[in-house]
Amino acid sequence: AVQHKALEARLPLTHPDLDRQTYVRILEAYYGFHAPLQRRIDAFLGADAREPEREKVATLIRDLHALGLSDADISRLPVCADLPPLDHVGHLFGIQYVMEGATLGGQVLRRLIFGRLGIEAENGAAFLDVYGRDTGRLWKAFLDRLAELDHPDVNPKVVQAACATFACFEQWLARAGVLR
Ligand code: HEM
Repeated sequence: AVQHKALEARLPLTHPDLDRQTYVRILEAYYGFHAPLQRRIDAFLGADAREPEREKVATLIRDLHALGLSDADISRLPVCADLPPLDHVGHLFGIQYVMEGATLGGQVLRRLIFGRLGIEAENGAAFLDVYGRDTGRLWKAFLDRLAELDHPDVNPKVVQAACATFACFEQWLARAGVLR
């Protein structure tokens, strides 16, 4: 909760003077974190266990296209190399807790960004509310799975990975120059 509050305060998405250029730079930086992290998760899980329903990178790419980037532009975007460690199922759940939880503020952000920049799902802001009306269902299903994992040997790994994910994401966004 402490890390969430700090990151939310530094991310200009909710700030009254957010402009379109900053918004695009934030989405580019989001791509630079989510794309390599998703690849690492896919490699850990193996092809059979992938969850297409929770696939978010395709939506980010769709937004970047809508905001004027070509495939070549997207392929040249910097990607994060300093990702949270992932060599245990506890780490996986900690990372997923942060990346899934990040969908929860979507309703609020969607309205704000449309009000301020006129950008909505069709023209560059689909990622902000990536699960739409499925948000609650997917979050609850994730929490149920997390509760099943509950074990004194595993819980510290979950927490460690969740904190590391917040820290890596914040560092990456700071390096990209999009934080206050
Ligand atoms: C300006 C940006 C953000 C806003 C306005 C925002 C807003 C919110 C809100 C309103 C909730 C609570 C939803 C509920 O309890 O029904 C929430 C939860 C959460 N958010 Fe954010 N958020 C933002 C950014 C992020 C980011 C960037 C991440 C992670 C990278 C994140 C991770 C989480 C997590 C993990 C939770 C779940 C907390 C729990 O266990 O209850 N949020 N956010």
